[in-house]
Amino acid sequence: MIVIENLSRIYRKGSNEVAALQDLNFRVQQGSFVSVIGRSGSGKSTLLNLIGGLDRSDEGSLFFKEKDVMQMSRRELALHRRFSVGMIFQSFNLIHSRTARENIELALAFGGKSRRERKKQAMQLLEAVGLEDRADHQPTELSGGESQRVAIARAMANKPSVLLADEPTGNLDSATSGEIIELLQNLNKQEGVTILMVTHEEDTAHAVSDHLLRLSDGKMLEERRISQ
Ligand SMILES: Nc1ncnc2c1ncn2[C@@H]1O[C@H](COP(=O)(O)OP(=O)(O)OP(=O)(O)O)[C@@H](O)[C@H]1O
Ligand SMILES: [Mg+2]
Repeated sequence: MIVIENLSRIYRKGSNEVAALQDLNFRVQQGSFVSVIGRSGSGKSTLLNLIGGLDRSDEGSLFFKEKDVMQMSRRELALHRRFSVGMIFQSFNLIHSRTARENIELALAFGGKSRRERKKQAMQLLEAVGLEDRADHQPTELSGGESQRVAIARAMANKPSVLLADEPTGNLDSATSGEIIELLQNLNKQEGVTILMVTHEEDTAHAVSDHLLRLSDGKMLEERRISQ
């Protein structure tokens, strides 16, 4: 589903060059749960941002269902971001002036849908993460775990086949982290959503994923398939 060939990303600041990713090669199978681990600065977020179409690489290819994301036009890239992938982040990235439901409604593709339909769909998405009774809360009126659930519901709004999660439990206590991981596992197992998750927790990575990528200084230090 995702095939990465000789992918590199060099950040340039004046005369300073940082090779955030260097000559990466790997493939992700549809329906798998991939954990990306590695020290701070090893290129994990850079990799997720490239797959999510938020950034461009300098070299190499990144095929998503046989289409090279690096060769996409701006329009194609916008569609890729909206429909092919969903992203969640450590800091949730919800819009603070909007309620949980409105945050999700804003992510829903218009596609000729009425306001009422979008409201209904947003409520169904909130229900799926167990938060229908928090629909009218603003992000400041939600706990961290609840905020991340809303972010997951929003990421799933347009039914992406891949969910990219960058340290989704980085700001949560261990019990709440467990709940979020469980939610991701359910999406993976029951809905068949392919997941790429960055985590610093090695134990979690081993417990939940069937494919592990370990980056070091932008290079692949280890790639392992785990039978669950
Ligand atoms: N926009 C940027 N401009 C210049 N350098 C950058 C930029 N973004 C990231 N880098 C550099 O690229 C390298 C990889 O960064 P990245 O954010 O991918 O690391 P990471 O593995 O996600 O780290 P962490 O675990 O701390 O989140 C780092 O050395 C960082 O300083
Ligand atoms: Mg990061």
